[in-house]
Amino acid sequence: MTTAPQVGEANFADLDSFVDRTRDERLADFFELLRIPSIGTLSEHTDDVRATATFIADRLAAMGFEHVEVSPTDGHPIVYADWLHAEGAPTVIVYAHYDVQPVDPIDLWDTPPFEPTVKDGRIYGRGAADDKSHVYLHMWAAKAWLESRGNLPVNLKIVFEGEEESGSDHFEPWIIANQDRLAADFALISDTGFYEGNRPALTIGLRGLVYMQIDVTGSELDLHSGTFGGNVQNPAAALASVIARLKNEDGSIAVPGFYDEVRPLTPRDREEFARLPFDEGEFVGSYGLHSVHGEPDFSVLERRGARPTLDVNGIWGGFQGEGSKTIIPAEAHAKISCRLVADMSPDLTFQRVRDHVMSNVPAGVEVTVRKINEGMWSLTPIDHPATQAAAACLEEVFGEAPVYLREGGSIPAGATFSSVLGLPVVLLGFIQPDDQIHAPNENVRLDNLEGGLRTIIRYWQKLSETAL
Ligand code: BES
Ligand code: MN
Ligand code: MN
Repeated sequence: MTTAPQVGEANFADLDSFVDRTRDERLADFFELLRIPSIGTLSEHTDDVRATATFIADRLAAMGFEHVEVSPTDGHPIVYADWLHAEGAPTVIVYAHYDVQPVDPIDLWDTPPFEPTVKDGRIYGRGAADDKSHVYLHMWAAKAWLESRGNLPVNLKIVFEGEEESGSDHFEPWIIANQDRLAADFALISDTGFYEGNRPALTIGLRGLVYMQIDVTGSELDLHSGTFGGNVQNPAAALASVIARLKNEDGSIAVPGFYDEVRPLTPRDREEFARLPFDEGEFVGSYGLHSVHGEPDFSVLERRGARPTLDVNGIWGGFQGEGSKTIIPAEAHAKISCRLVADMSPDLTFQRVRDHVMSNVPAGVEVTVRKINEGMWSLTPIDHPATQAAAACLEEVFGEAPVYLREGGSIPAGATFSSVLGLPVVLLGFIQPDDQIHAPNENVRLDNLEGGLRTIIRYWQKLSETAL
């Protein structure tokens, strides 16, 4: 047995050497994980999602985790495992998700999405960043400890979700049903990343989400636009006019009451946003935008972190093929999502948007608005000792203190851990800002992965020395 260095002057030589000498093995293992197409939203991939859960569970069991389970839900399974032998040390729930986004438009990928490829210091593949990177990092950080020292300095309860990208519908019921075995000091969510310029960052805010679909019907079948044109309402045009009434020209949302519960920014909040380095010209340039557009009186970062949105995610109906086809489409559809901030309610927001749509329905069509899924916003305290311990480890490994971010994205699990289990949440993730998550050519930087692994390894040690 190797002798563990004493707390206070933690020595990571053996763990760092594990990281160095397992480089090839780690990469091969990560690639195996990336090759399984665990697209959670597409039912034809249900078996792949399960296979991914089993792959992860097998790895966790082999390295010494206990109570390893591919735990069923009414949707995709949750991988649970624990290691609880660090008596007197903190207990941490470790969350990441192993499901990935669909790959379309497939033509825009330079390499196949499920054949991971290394190029220019990055790994390309669906899920390479969001969020299999963190599943992989947590497995190998634990393995580094268990193989080098035969133990971990903290108690871990692994909860890896398979439905994050499809709205986490069955996550909260599972957490409620498993409440008894989920006692912990805090929940660590690894599904976020660094700030512009690849500066180390800790996320302290996530937006919520409510996702809905509008369906407009005019007739049973498509109609000849010569025979019927001028005598019937056109569902595609009706949908367009309904959508046009949802927002004002300045980018603000026109739905009555939409902003009623939005927590106003304090002068202190605004100072924090203004402190973050941000170059609007560079932002516009690096994402190929034409310009930024949004609510007046707020900065880009304020709009991203602290203001709600209403967006059309997709709109379809009628003829889309080559050439012309003279019809009045029988129906038209749109997917709409709203990002929510403190203190908005997903359900109230849905009702307000639905009511506004319904009060603007043109004559001659039938319209329905239905909710597809929802997730709650969350905010986490900067000054919690577990957050500060994460900041110290990031600085130690990446040589720079992290900035604190309020993200625009959503992770429904964040609110669930705090509302159901009453736990503080720390969001520690390592993906770089130009990761292209959800888009073609998703990628992750190899040096961020390696730094991430060393950071998590140190974090477990640091927490064992921290009073929570
Ligand atoms: N990892 C993202 C959330 C995220 C995005 C964090 C950008 C940091 C920066 C997560 O997997 C995600 O995509 N969430 C969805 C949630 C939705 C499907 C309920 C999102 O934000 O659209
Ligand atoms: Mn994610
Ligand atoms: Mn995602």
